[in-house]
Amino acid sequence: MNFTYRVASPSNIALVKYWGKLPEHQQVAANSSLSMTLSGCQALTECRLLLGGAATSDHQVTLAGQQVSRDSKAGLKIFRHLDRMAALAGKERAEARSLAPTDRPVAAPRGWQGCFHVASHNTFPTSAGIASSAAGLSALTVAAAAAMVGTADWQQLAEQGFSKARLADLARIGSGSAGRSMFGGFVKWWSGEAHLDQGQKIDQLWPQSHWQLCDTIAVLSNKEKAVSSTDAHREVWTSPLFKLRLASLPQTLNTIESALAHRDIAALGEAVEQEAVNMHSVSMTAERPITFPSAQSFALMAALKTWRLKTGLRAYFTLDAGENVHIIHEADQRDALRQQLEQFAGVEDILFDQVGSGPSLTQADS
Ligand code: PMV
Repeated sequence: MNFTYRVASPSNIALVKYWGKLPEHQQVAANSSLSMTLSGCQALTECRLLLGGAATSDHQVTLAGQQVSRDSKAGLKIFRHLDRMAALAGKERAEARSLAPTDRPVAAPRGWQGCFHVASHNTFPTSAGIASSAAGLSALTVAAAAAMVGTADWQQLAEQGFSKARLADLARIGSGSAGRSMFGGFVKWWSGEAHLDQGQKIDQLWPQSHWQLCDTIAVLSNKEKAVSSTDAHREVWTSPLFKLRLASLPQTLNTIESALAHRDIAALGEAVEQEAVNMHSVSMTAERPITFPSAQSFALMAALKTWRLKTGLRAYFTLDAGENVHIIHEADQRDALRQQLEQFAGVEDILFDQVGSGPSLTQADS
């Protein structure tokens, strides 16, 4: 039987950013990173195998109801990732006997030519610094694996070579930050020169229940950003600050991991703000400078500090590759923060999100 599988996979917000890839490696970050998996900002993806007939010449993909093609900007990453997932099944046929059990990919159904039908949409604005590729590519990885194995059961997926660790590593190859969305709670991706083995280690440091942290996203623009994070990952090497950043990151990771361990919001917030400014300083000082924050983002970052001083608000900013400002805080600060944001000129929308439990997988039909 060929069923449709439905995955809801969250975005994540990096507390220590992945910024820059090692050249000549497949999607290996220049540094280790750490994120909080979100709950409300999700990609909702359905996937089934295309079996038989003329319809199987290529994948069929719709994003938010719009058909996308292999050579379109939106389609490129997705089609490539689906090709990679399908190739695992082909590889299994050739290599199953020589692969270690944990590496053994799935045997796909007979007669399947390697094409998927995928329909996906996001519950939040796409390509606006809310890590839509993290949600989208993690969802796609799980959905394609489920369709190939023919199960919505995580245990069965793992038995067929798709453990969470492996799914995370596959998602990471699709889009770096997507690997971290495979787990709930607080997640680390060990990368950089010291971690150049074949698969990269991505794992949960603490589950969602460790600390009910919130990420309130001040949406300043719903427009798609002009420069992609892929371009930025390349450019950062030309900044004179990049090597300094890499040298300082082990200390930053220690500080942030310790603040998370002790649930110390002030220590966490200060380190997270400094890390975000550090990351953006690198791209802003590249030979081809890239400035993701807008004038409004800078104004909001400054205002947040003033609110902290004047009203005692305990909330701290971070920004990914976009202009929208993520504000990290504990749940008791939500109303006070909402009041400030509602009066702040330029805030188009406010998304109230919080730490989440990671992807969910179900069978859509029976
Ligand atoms: O996964 P990518 O290639 O979209 O890069 C993500 C980069 C940042 O979001 C800026 C930082 C991160 O670690 O998520």
